[in-house]
Amino acid sequence: MAKTLAIQMPSPRQKTFLTATTRHIGFGGARGGGKSWAVRTKAKLLALRYPGIRILIVRRTYPELINNHIRILCQELSGIGEYHDRDKLIAFPGGSIIQFSYCDRDTDLDRLQGVEYDVIFLDEATQLSEYQMKTITACLRGVNDFPKRIYYTCNPGGQGHQYIKRIFIDRKYRDGEDPRDYTFIQSLVTDNHALMKTQPDYVKQLEALPYKLRQAWLHGRWDIFEGQFFEEFRESPDLAMCEKAGITPELAKKQGRWTHVIEPFDIGSGACRGWTLYRSYDFGYAKPFSCAWWAVDHDGTLYRIMELYGCTENPNEGVKWTPDRQFQEIARIEREHPWLRGRQILGVADPAIWDVSRGESIADTAIRYGVYFTPGDHARVSGWMQCHYRLQFDENGYARCYVFDNCKGFIRTVPTLRYDTNRPEDLDTAGEDHIADEWRYLCMSRPVQPIREAAPRGLLNDPLRS
Ligand SMILES: Nc1ncnc2c1ncn2[C@@H]1O[C@H](COP(=O)(O)OP(=O)(O)O)[C@@H](O)[C@H]1O
Ligand SMILES: [Mg+2]
Repeated sequence: MAKTLAIQMPSPRQKTFLTATTRHIGFGGARGGGKSWAVRTKAKLLALRYPGIRILIVRRTYPELINNHIRILCQELSGIGEYHDRDKLIAFPGGSIIQFSYCDRDTDLDRLQGVEYDVIFLDEATQLSEYQMKTITACLRGVNDFPKRIYYTCNPGGQGHQYIKRIFIDRKYRDGEDPRDYTFIQSLVTDNHALMKTQPDYVKQLEALPYKLRQAWLHGRWDIFEGQFFEEFRESPDLAMCEKAGITPELAKKQGRWTHVIEPFDIGSGACRGWTLYRSYDFGYAKPFSCAWWAVDHDGTLYRIMELYGCTENPNEGVKWTPDRQFQEIARIEREHPWLRGRQILGVADPAIWDVSRGESIADTAIRYGVYFTPGDHARVSGWMQCHYRLQFDENGYARCYVFDNCKGFIRTVPTLRYDTNRPEDLDTAGEDHIADEWRYLCMSRPVQPIREAAPRGLLNDPLRS
């Protein structure tokens, strides 16, 4: 006997999505708004309503496809449609198909050549580039009476941010684009009643994000990733906060409150001798290399105590020190400097320095000078988030990362970094980012939770991350 399909109740926003009929339909604009659910539901309804219809669901990666769509749909459609793993599609008795495809890089597009679909879903479309979206949606054709539609679910951020923002948010159309073909339905996590009920913690996690990410992912703002990347970085105490706290900026600087830059103190004596020391490193030859030494106090607060930045007057040119010369100097400093002499130093570096494809790896060169590293975690977005968390002030104005005022390179370069227009939650790598990279590896080696107490878990273990 044929099984009937049970569909859960859509939220009001999901209902608008399910009933929209324009050629291009955008949905979401924030995290947790019930986007993937809406994709699966609409795909099922179309497949059953139009026997013979060809539907495509796209995600950036194959694991995301499996976790968000294939596994769940196979379960829900068991007894109704049949999954063919070789072709990555679910076939229905009436002749409809739901096909799954991923597009991690442009060469993945080759699989779509000459294929036709009636309806295409790009789930998390902003993770695809404009070129990828356009190539995939060029498969929308077919001589039949089935609806021809493209559904885009999206968050601010990602390489497709500018394109999606233009067609659905700014609604600035070019030749050949008809405004009447485009509908956007915003759905925030607060519109997803099912999730609010089953995982109330998820909203708290979004609330604990750094300001800009919170505006984008919780409130669905698309205009936020502009300007300075580390706008919260304070080279001197925040005057308004000092006044509120009733202390002078001089005292605040001494106490390390409402500022990230402080006067150096003697790391080589007293209690500081028991603190853990780190060395973080980003390799460069034609571009600058950056090496910094850090002390970690018993509360886990980081102090950038010294740096060796290989940069000429031209900020994007390295001093062209060979790796040997760099490690010779690093080893000398560690042998001679009173703060470092005779102490164990934990090294963390860009994992790319273990590359052996061009002969001896940079990491092996370092070992010849007695300079040891472990590979850092180079996940960029979660890494930057760790840097942001470290800069957050608690209610008394204390941060969890300080910079000694002798670290001129950090103080000069970090405030100059900008958002990347193509990948807006990342920073623009055209900037002088070598010091920030090395700082990010260090932060990732000692991850912290955001300061706000309402956040039991950070985005590092975000249940909706996939
Ligand atoms: N209408 C609904 N009924 C029941 N559960 C839902 C509904 N909409 C969303 N959910 C559930 O809420 C969670 C988040 O939804 P999801 O579609 O994955 O969000 P997004 O893709 O926007 O991050 C999922 O567990 C999903 O199954
Ligand atoms: Mg999703």
